[in-house]
Amino acid sequence: MGNPDLHDVLEPAFGLGIFSRMLLAKSSNVAIKGFEIDNRIFGNAQNEFSSCPNINLQLQDYMYNDWENKYDGIICNPPYFKFHDYDNKKIITEIEDRLSCKLNGFTNLYTLFLLKSIYQLKPNGRCAYIIPSEFLNSDYGKLVKAHLLKTRTLRYIFVFDFEENVFNDSTTTACIILCANDTATDKLQFTNIHFPNDLNLCKDMIANYPKVSNYAKAYEAGEINPLEKWKIYYQSHSKNNFKNLIPFSTYVKVMRGIATGANDFFTFNISKAKKYGIDEKYLLPCVCRSADIKGHTFTMPDFECLKNADKKIFILNAKDARDSNVTEYIKKGENEGINKKHLTASRKPWYALEKRPPSPIWVSVFNRNGLRFIRNVAEVSNLTTFHCIYLRNGIFSDIPIDLFFAYLLTDTAKQIFENNAREYGNGLQKFEPNDLNHGMVLDIASLPDSAKKQILALYLACKQSCDSNIIIKRIDDILLEYFSCGN
Ligand SMILES: C[S@@+](CC[C@H](N)C(=O)[O-])C[C@H]1O[C@@H](n2cnc3c(N)ncnc32)[C@H](O)[C@@H]1O
Repeated sequence: MGNPDLHDVLEPAFGLGIFSRMLLAKSSNVAIKGFEIDNRIFGNAQNEFSSCPNINLQLQDYMYNDWENKYDGIICNPPYFKFHDYDNKKIITEIEDRLSCKLNGFTNLYTLFLLKSIYQLKPNGRCAYIIPSEFLNSDYGKLVKAHLLKTRTLRYIFVFDFEENVFNDSTTTACIILCANDTATDKLQFTNIHFPNDLNLCKDMIANYPKVSNYAKAYEAGEINPLEKWKIYYQSHSKNNFKNLIPFSTYVKVMRGIATGANDFFTFNISKAKKYGIDEKYLLPCVCRSADIKGHTFTMPDFECLKNADKKIFILNAKDARDSNVTEYIKKGENEGINKKHLTASRKPWYALEKRPPSPIWVSVFNRNGLRFIRNVAEVSNLTTFHCIYLRNGIFSDIPIDLFFAYLLTDTAKQIFENNAREYGNGLQKFEPNDLNHGMVLDIASLPDSAKKQILALYLACKQSCDSNIIIKRIDDILLEYFSCGN
């Protein structure tokens, strides 16, 4: 894949120039331009390369300079600040104007570096970037990916799936992206790099470019959807890839949440309760909107927060109430014909609630980004915005609920369920209780005790961490180790 006519090379985030040093060791005929924004680093790099005429260092911000120049080769390990660590508005506008594209305001700086570098490739030019892989699967990444596909230069993506992190920042995962500004192929090849030795694959693949490698998953650019999470192109999670799958209903029963038949009448926040003088003992704590629940654990303090924020987190529980304010409110309902509605008309009395004890786990009914499971530690009830998940008693009752819940948080669990989702278009999925009851899960009871302990410890860490994704990924890795068909 290498460019045989490599003369002009750019290293846009030069640092101490490790890439340039390696390149010069291989080829002494290249002219390298480097950009570095940091005074001190720039000084050190200049000292380092003072006797090297091939290197031309600029103490400048790469993003706003050098737009007029093009290169045969660009190699870069850009800064990977989050969008809030730099003046994203100004830089994003600069890129949008120069490249005539639209970007999301949360776009990370490293992808902006990449977009600019691709623009600066000469015909037949090559570009290599090592960057976090997060944008491949995030919302802000959709527009970046759409633009990358439009450039028709993407050739290889190597996604690091190491046990340990490649970057020091523990929340970052990495990938190498190789681009070619040529017409030799329109294929993009994805490869998972699990071990340092797998990096030798990169060498072989580059040497055989544009042939498709047996170790890669290759797609025509037109087959790739920028709106999808690209892990679907490189991860192999499907029902057929796992052993020890059993029906979800072996462990649990999924039931819909409480249907009131008239939410406006039955739901209460604190100010409405005050207005009608309804005492809290006639109100059942109940989550009414899925949007009110953030994170994957719902605790009593979370409930109190919603209560203080005057969110609707109660429903009227008036059966057998003799309180005059409650009676009054029920009369008001009858005057409004609430008692004649489809569901209420069939109940006795019409304002009786469905018998549905709080469930230890909820799952959201409508999903845009995969199933959302929530551990209901607060033990409050829920309306139909969530389904209730009850653990069955019996032979599986020895499974700690947290172990089971930790499993449900993983991508593996979600993707196995995915086959049973009803698509509502526009990325919206709906799961009816039976779609889940009939879904499959890994038989986590069959895990050795040591793995169960490890998962429980990670779940505990996950509850205390503000960025739990990396921990959930580790739980997933343990599951893959035991349940992948290859193992
Ligand atoms: C991840 S480091 C690259 C390390 C480099 N490969 C090396 O060998 O040291 C990123 C470098 O880019 C520099 N940098 C950050 N923002 C920049 C910008 N807008 N323009 C140019 N350099 C920048 C940083 O100061 C840092 O030295």
